[in-house]
Amino acid sequence: MSRNAIYPGSFDPISNGHIDIINRALNIFDNLVIAVLNNSEKKSWFSVEERINMIKSIYGNNKNVQVKSFDGLLVSFMEKENLNIAIRGLRAVSDYEYELQLSLFNNQLSNGKCETIFLPASRENLYLSSTVIKEIAINKGKLEEYVDKLVLNKIEEKAKIKRGEKL
Ligand code: PNS
Repeated sequence: MSRNAIYPGSFDPISNGHIDIINRALNIFDNLVIAVLNNSEKKSWFSVEERINMIKSIYGNNKNVQVKSFDGLLVSFMEKENLNIAIRGLRAVSDYEYELQLSLFNNQLSNGKCETIFLPASRENLYLSSTVIKEIAINKGKLEEYVDKLVLNKIEEKAKIKRGEKL
């Protein structure tokens, strides 16, 4: 029987921190569904299609990775996909409270079916976030250390649009 898990998130955009968690999750699980939250209320830089395409440009050739979008409750999507293990990365202490709340509610809302497995962020990604990446991008800073080269252009292009340099 294959071991399957889901890695949910906003991925706005996918960072080296996400990639590290995905690669390490794939050492534990046979298949991973990367689930991109499609939330119209949350102000994201990238549309859900753009976020999915960026992830697919990195993992499109990996048959053990599927990239999907979801809206509504994560546990409902997990039930639909027949998955009961969610992977979340834990960075500094500041993540802990929110992640604990998320994991407890997901467990309760799924009547105990959904379990969360936390993977600690690697040292180099401890303080990396998509928010910081967007801040660096909009201010024309160097992003090479923080994102995959396959998505670097997409982020720089979007930053130009945000700065009003490109329509
Ligand atoms: O990358 P993020 O923004 O930290 O990911 C958060 C995410 C997408 C995992 C979380 O917001 C989520 O699962 N949202 C869907 C709604 C839901 O199920 N919320 C938890 C129960 S209150």
